[in-house]
Amino acid sequence: MTFFTVSAFMIYFSISAGESCTKITENLHYSCMGRNLSFIPSSIPSSVQTLDFSFNVLKHLKKTVFPVLSFLQVLDLSRCQIKHIENDTFYNVKNLTTLILTGNPITYFGPGCLNSLHNLQRLVLVDVGLSSLQLQINNLTKLQELRVGTNNIQSMSLPSFMSTFKEFSLLDLHANNISIIKTDDTVLLREIGRNMTLILSRNQLLHIEPGAFKDIYLKEFHILSSFVSLNAQKECLEALTGLSVDKLFLGSYRMQWKVKVSNGSYLDGLCSIHFNEIYFVQKEFSDSEMHLFRCMINATKITVKSGYIKSMKYIRFHRLKELYLGPTLLSAVPLISHIPSLEKLVVRNNMPMNFYGISDLPLLKFVDLSGNFLILKDCCSQFFQRTPNIHYMNLSRNSEIGIADKPFSGLDLLEVLDLHHTKLVLVFYFGFLHGLKYLKYLDISYTSITVTRQMIFQDLNNLTVLKMAGNSFHGDALSYLLQNLTGLNVLDISHCGIEEISRRSFIGTQKIRYLYLSQNKLMILDFLALPNLKQLTSLYVDKNSITSIPLHVLQKLPTNLSEFDLSSNPIDCSCSQTDFIWWIIQNQNVLKQPENIVCKTTDFRAKDFDIHSCVHKKRLTIVVSVCFVTVVVLLSFLVYRFQFYLQYCWILLRGYRSPGQQECSYDAFVIFSSYDEVWVMNELMENLENGVPPIQLCLHMRDFQAGKSIASNIIDEGIMGSRKIIVVVSQHFIDSAWCRFEFELAQSRFIMERNANIIIIILEDVEERKTKKVFGLHKHLKNNTYLKWSRDPLSNMRFWKRLRKAIFATNQ
Ligand SMILES: *[C@@H]1O[C@H](CO)[C@@H](O)[C@H](O)[C@H]1NC(C)=O
Ligand SMILES: *[C@@H]1O[C@H](CO)[C@@H](O)[C@H](O)[C@H]1NC(C)=O
Ligand SMILES: *[C@@H]1O[C@H](CO)[C@@H](O)[C@H](O)[C@H]1NC(C)=O
Ligand SMILES: *[C@@H]1O[C@H](CO)[C@@H](O)[C@H](O)[C@H]1NC(C)=O
Ligand SMILES: *[C@@H]1O[C@H](CO)[C@@H](O)[C@H](O)[C@H]1NC(C)=O
Ligand SMILES: *[C@@H]1O[C@H](CO)[C@@H](O)[C@H](O)[C@H]1NC(C)=O
Ligand SMILES: *[C@@H]1O[C@H](CO)[C@@H](O)[C@H](O)[C@H]1NC(C)=O
Ligand SMILES: *[C@@H]1O[C@H](CO)[C@@H](O)[C@H](O)[C@H]1NC(C)=O
Ligand SMILES: *[C@@H]1O[C@H](CO)[C@@H](O)[C@H](O)[C@H]1NC(C)=O
Ligand SMILES: *[C@@H]1O[C@H](CO)[C@@H](O)[C@H](O)[C@H]1NC(C)=O
Ligand SMILES: *[C@@H]1O[C@H](CO)[C@@H](O)[C@H](O)[C@H]1NC(C)=O
Ligand SMILES: *[C@@H]1O[C@H](CO)[C@@H](O)[C@H](O)[C@H]1NC(C)=O
Repeated sequence: MTFFTVSAFMIYFSISAGESCTKITENLHYSCMGRNLSFIPSSIPSSVQTLDFSFNVLKHLKKTVFPVLSFLQVLDLSRCQIKHIENDTFYNVKNLTTLILTGNPITYFGPGCLNSLHNLQRLVLVDVGLSSLQLQINNLTKLQELRVGTNNIQSMSLPSFMSTFKEFSLLDLHANNISIIKTDDTVLLREIGRNMTLILSRNQLLHIEPGAFKDIYLKEFHILSSFVSLNAQKECLEALTGLSVDKLFLGSYRMQWKVKVSNGSYLDGLCSIHFNEIYFVQKEFSDSEMHLFRCMINATKITVKSGYIKSMKYIRFHRLKELYLGPTLLSAVPLISHIPSLEKLVVRNNMPMNFYGISDLPLLKFVDLSGNFLILKDCCSQFFQRTPNIHYMNLSRNSEIGIADKPFSGLDLLEVLDLHHTKLVLVFYFGFLHGLKYLKYLDISYTSITVTRQMIFQDLNNLTVLKMAGNSFHGDALSYLLQNLTGLNVLDISHCGIEEISRRSFIGTQKIRYLYLSQNKLMILDFLALPNLKQLTSLYVDKNSITSIPLHVLQKLPTNLSEFDLSSNPIDCSCSQTDFIWWIIQNQNVLKQPENIVCKTTDFRAKDFDIHSCVHKKRLTIVVSVCFVTVVVLLSFLVYRFQFYLQYCWILLRGYRSPGQQECSYDAFVIFSSYDEVWVMNELMENLENGVPPIQLCLHMRDFQAGKSIASNIIDEGIMGSRKIIVVVSQHFIDSAWCRFEFELAQSRFIMERNANIIIIILEDVEERKTKKVFGLHKHLKNNTYLKWSRDPLSNMRFWKRLRKAIFATNQ
């Protein structure tokens, strides 16, 4: 109930949402099925030819219901709750060829309402409450089919005017209430001719007047579950004497409970019917012998769809071409070697059976013994002797088949050989299929064989389908196996534990179109880029271990590839695989089950992977890299440009770290320009070092340690290693960057250590403007805290005195 309410609601909703009928073919074919419509929507064009209007609400049919639809040929009004049909109803749709009124509770047919349909060919009045075939359809002279199943009709007597319906060929009366057929009821059948199909299945036949069907020819006669009882069936069959049928359908409608009978005589009546083909579903069983086929001796085709026969007696069939035995209780494949006309033998899905072989059947072309739990030793020539015409052999789904030496000799015309799901015991691998030069189709899937290099498919030039799924390959057997199968079209090597496919494997097989590789252990699909697989249209590599396919392979995929199953692989969804994932997103139409192509680490579908985030990340990486490089270049430039200051800073930092550690090994460190070296050596050094007491000077050219950087020497030896610092100011001093540097360093010590002293010696006058260039010098000069050198010997004396004093002075 809930379902109906919901669906009704949806229908209502879809209507209120303005949805009209579904267009199936523009202007020609429309479906208004299940829309609760009570009128034909004006959106249906007048050119419509097929209109499905089933499951709506029409109730009362009259002329105004249908607009003029002159081209309408097929009208389906199934289950529209139609009760009343007036006589002018179909006036506007005169050209109908098919009218379907199934499942309407029609209580009133207007007189001749169907008679305006002169072109009607198919009239379907299933389940409309009909109680008689006496319909007013005089004018329907083109009628071919009348389907009136599931009604309450009690007589199969047709109106006499139908004898003029030359094309009438099908009367379907299934599931009615016909219990008696009299000679009068079949008069018309006799007149209509040989091309009639009569369906009487699921009626309640109790009695047929003997001879009622005499001299009647039917194309098909369906009497499945047509009789009230077994006795009625026996009598009715006997009463059918004189009937000729091409195809007879007899037995139970579906598999029903089995019914015990004393013997097979209930089918004796068949002997008085002439038929070519019989389709039989048996529900009767017996403890004694059944003689089921006794009256089928003249048949050309016998199909026992299912049954309870335990044995098949020797019967001299003389026209039988096809024998089909579905599930039965037979314990062995029947001995049929006496039926020389036999062309097709199917014994399928039976209980465990024996097979003793067949022989001397020159016309036998088709043998299907699948699904019978057969165990055969030394197959197959032994079992098929003098049957040279066999083209098709299906031994699949049996238990075990041992293959002997030259197993198919004498069966040279074999084109189809199916052995799948049967355990094969191969004694000789080599030349297993030797001589089958017409073989086109070979299925040895799931036969528990290990394919070795010896198992070469020789001479199978015509093989187009090769299925070997569910076996295993020894070593590199796959690389050699296929070489000579130049015509191969379909190859199935799924579920074989294959880890890789070498480039050699497909060298000779240039025509493969369907390649099944599911359920293996493949990680790499590089072989797809080979030119040998150019014709591939379908490729199945689902359930493997593929994480990605490189771009160069994707670019070389076969051009006609239209089916590619990549599902259930551990796809690597990372930004390094954007090419691959982009390809997946772009090729949804080619990929099978795209929703099952899932990323390895997450449960995301690969197509939902946010590829744009990768693009952003990529861009970001590029921008960051560019910035980094720029900064590095800029820094290098700055370092280069200001290396001097950097060094200075570094030294300052070092100086901070290690004050006090130094033992002062000099009395004074002299900062001077190398242009003033002569003065320093001749005057300063001479006077101070050789005086009393001697003053130990630190001079860079003499006292700096070799192998140490100048800067380190300045700071370690000079500034930190000396108690005082003597600065020799001259024009050159001002101009020298090194001198300025040393001076500034010295001042920094002075700032850090309050006891440090700097002694300025003015060697020559310097412009005031220039002294400002040297940081801190101007201050010293302004404060007159300097010594001035002069050449005058008197002032010289004073100079040295003052200098010595300054050097020895302490600041404590
Ligand atoms: C069907 O349509 C009729 C009116 O034509 C309306 O009364 C009824 O409720 C509808 N039924 C459903 C199930 O929508
Ligand atoms: C009726 O159908 C036939 C073909 O079945 C066609 O030739 C004819 O024109 C149609 N009549 C009308 C009135 O459409
Ligand atoms: C049926 O059609 C005839 C003429 O074709 C007409 O006279 C009659 O009124 C119609 N209706 C019924 C209910 O018979
Ligand atoms: C049936 O056919 C006859 C003769 O062709 C015609 O007079 C009559 O009107 C037709 N009946 C209908 C209901 O069309
Ligand atoms: C079938 O027909 C018999 C008469 O032949 C009648 O008694 C019986 O009620 C009918 N069955 C049904 C379901 O109409
Ligand atoms: C027999 O009937 C079928 C339709 O059931 C039709 O296709 C075929 O042409 C008919 N053959 C003859 C000879 O009437
Ligand atoms: C089969 O059974 C019937 C009774 O149901 C009997 O009359 C007939 O003789 C039996 N025929 C054989 C061959 O046993
Ligand atoms: C088989 O056909 C022959 C004639 O060809 C006939 O004499 C015989 O009665 C038929 N048998 C059956 C069971 O139909
Ligand atoms: C062989 O028989 C099996 C089982 O009946 C069926 O599935 C298979 O399609 C058949 N093989 C061929 C090639 O027709
Ligand atoms: C392959 O089959 C074709 C026909 O399909 C046939 O002409 C040809 O002879 C066959 N090749 C071999 C080697 O038998
Ligand atoms: C393929 O055929 C050639 C010549 O026909 C033969 O020499 C070779 O051994 C064959 N290879 C295989 C693997 O069958
Ligand atoms: C692809 O298909 C087309 C049309 O079916 C065909 O003409 C063409 O040869 C095919 N290409 C390849 C490489 O097989």
